[in-house]
Amino acid sequence: MGRAGAEESCQGAEGNKSVQVHISVLPYLPDNAYNMHANPTKVNMEPHHIRDIVFTEKQIRARVDQLVEEMADHCRSENMVMIGILRGSFMFLADLVRDLYDHDYHPRIDFITLESYGGGTESSGVVRITKDFSVDVTGADVLLIDDILDTGRTLTYARDHVTARGARTIRTCTLLDKPSRRVVPIEADFVGFTIEDFFVVGYGLDYDSYYRELPYLAKVTFEEEG
Ligand code: IMP
Ligand code: MG
Repeated sequence: MGRAGAEESCQGAEGNKSVQVHISVLPYLPDNAYNMHANPTKVNMEPHHIRDIVFTEKQIRARVDQLVEEMADHCRSENMVMIGILRGSFMFLADLVRDLYDHDYHPRIDFITLESYGGGTESSGVVRITKDFSVDVTGADVLLIDDILDTGRTLTYARDHVTARGARTIRTCTLLDKPSRRVVPIEADFVGFTIEDFFVVGYGLDYDSYYRELPYLAKVTFEEEG
């Protein structure tokens, strides 16, 4: 089955705040993914497969369009800065800024690299900056973009860091939200999709640096889950 076929077999999840996990056989991943575990360089990976699409490329596209409509109504500023939290937000941010351009938004754009995860799927709990942003945000209206809001530690850290650098306002946007995992109380101003507690990859999100290139979001199933 090609990618188009996989998309056709998925339905629903229109709009936001809903999650539907669709069982679809992806074009190439299961065997490929599983075999990667046998590679001795992939020491952090548990045996897993990826065959369930959570959101198709088309569904992500539609939701990004809606988010940009919301942002266009609420974020207009003469001094707007968008800061993407790397590495997971690169694809999401790229799609957002191209859509915002159509709404006559011309933000300055920068990135910050934060790390809290080791190679696996559990956070170490400690967030650190491995590469800071350099644009001057003094007096700016900042929109912080992240891939997923999980425990809340990363976004809280980033928000506090940008505040300390003199931003006038800070809004936050995350493609995915897993509220059941929250440890630090924080809500994003803009949320693409709210999901249950499972591990997802694709559209910028990784498992041990793999799978970021997938144009869709898919669930990682670990061996013991069946
Ligand atoms: P938090 O600090 O616990 O909120 O974690 C946020 C970061 O954890 C995200 O920016 C991701 O890099 C990573 N993360 C959390 N859940 C997932 C997931 O399901 N797939 C991939 N990365 C995840
Ligand atoms: Mg990550």
